[in-house]
Amino acid sequence: MKLPSFPFFKSKDAIAVDLGASSIKIVYLKHSGSKYSLARWELIPVSDGSVELSPQDRKNIATTRIGEFLAREKIATKNVISSISGNQVIVRYVKFPKLSYEELTKTIQFEAEPYIPFDIREVNLGFHTLGDVIEEGQKKMETILVAAKKEVVQSRIDIFNDLGLRPIIIDVDAFALTNAYELNTDPSVMETVVLINIGASVTNISIVENRIPRVVRDVFISGNSFTKAIQRNLACDTKTAEDLKLRHNLLVTVEEKEKTLADNQKEALQVSTAITPVARDLVAEIHRSIDFYISQNPDRSINRILITGGSANLKNLDKYLSQEIKLPVEVFNPLKNVYGGETVPENFATHLSIAVGLGMRRENDIIKK
Ligand SMILES: Nc1ncnc2c1ncn2[C@@H]1O[C@H](COP(=O)(O)OP(=O)(O)OP(=O)(O)O)[C@@H](O)[C@H]1O
Ligand SMILES: [Mg+2]
Repeated sequence: MKLPSFPFFKSKDAIAVDLGASSIKIVYLKHSGSKYSLARWELIPVSDGSVELSPQDRKNIATTRIGEFLAREKIATKNVISSISGNQVIVRYVKFPKLSYEELTKTIQFEAEPYIPFDIREVNLGFHTLGDVIEEGQKKMETILVAAKKEVVQSRIDIFNDLGLRPIIIDVDAFALTNAYELNTDPSVMETVVLINIGASVTNISIVENRIPRVVRDVFISGNSFTKAIQRNLACDTKTAEDLKLRHNLLVTVEEKEKTLADNQKEALQVSTAITPVARDLVAEIHRSIDFYISQNPDRSINRILITGGSANLKNLDKYLSQEIKLPVEVFNPLKNVYGGETVPENFATHLSIAVGLGMRRENDIIKK
């Protein structure tokens, strides 16, 4: 016999799991008053890129290691929140006819079809309306439309079901990033920021204007691109290239380069020379995003850039981006405004940005207003 569910037992808690290419990040946030506190966190290494892992390998590693974490930490909640990004998800800004939320929910498949390059029956759809606009004399709603292939979402869900967990939200990295930014920004601050989460295989770029994401893109210049450039230029294996990347700086100023030369630090020079073109490619992608944002309204401008993700730890990357883009660039710590967040070293905290943004979500909170 199946017992009815008891609403007074319903847990609002959930753990957030960010399944990254190089590591799995788990964050368990609890509400305390108007603030969040960090109940648990974990960073589980998966791959340094030296061995090619199949999706099945990744699934097995995730199931085993998350299972171990849950058992060890005695986590009571079964609710889990996770996300997808990169090629797995399509985000489009579209203007739909003015409809109520309920009406759009009913007709979304029909309305979304022209914007989705897949069979509409094979995708999960989500939307978030930003506000009304007038176009060609008609009242329309500016809407963020999100689509992901059902099989991709299902493969995420399967991992958690295998662990006896209950996936309550599968979000998109870029929106989790916006949440993490919001959590750490004074509500009175009005600004436009470029949020850049630089991971191992993907970089999420979002331009957020007064807390509303206006541009959302994923590009594939990220940590692995730096490692591969070192590997190619220094003719070494992936593991060595990865170690060299962690050890050396991007040389930005003429003085830094001259000093390194004078000290005869050949390896440091070689590494910087190898990775500078990758940093330049990243700059081009950031410029492209900013240009796109400004092209929609020339009065727009950017106040600052926040970089996060593991690759934000690349020494001097902030300085390089700032010099090239001519905007202030800061490394973003998603736990700055979270009780207990100070116990996490900053170079670890940057890896947790997506997981922190996911950890703030709760059931029935589809996409935050
Ligand atoms: N000190 C450092 N200097 C340079 N790169 C670093 C440093 N520390 C970590 N990284 C890089 O950060 C990347 C991992 O970051 P992160 O955990 O955000 O990625 P991920 O979430 O696993 O990957 P993805 O988001 O692409 O799926 C790796 O490429 C790693 O080499
Ligand atoms: Mg990531």
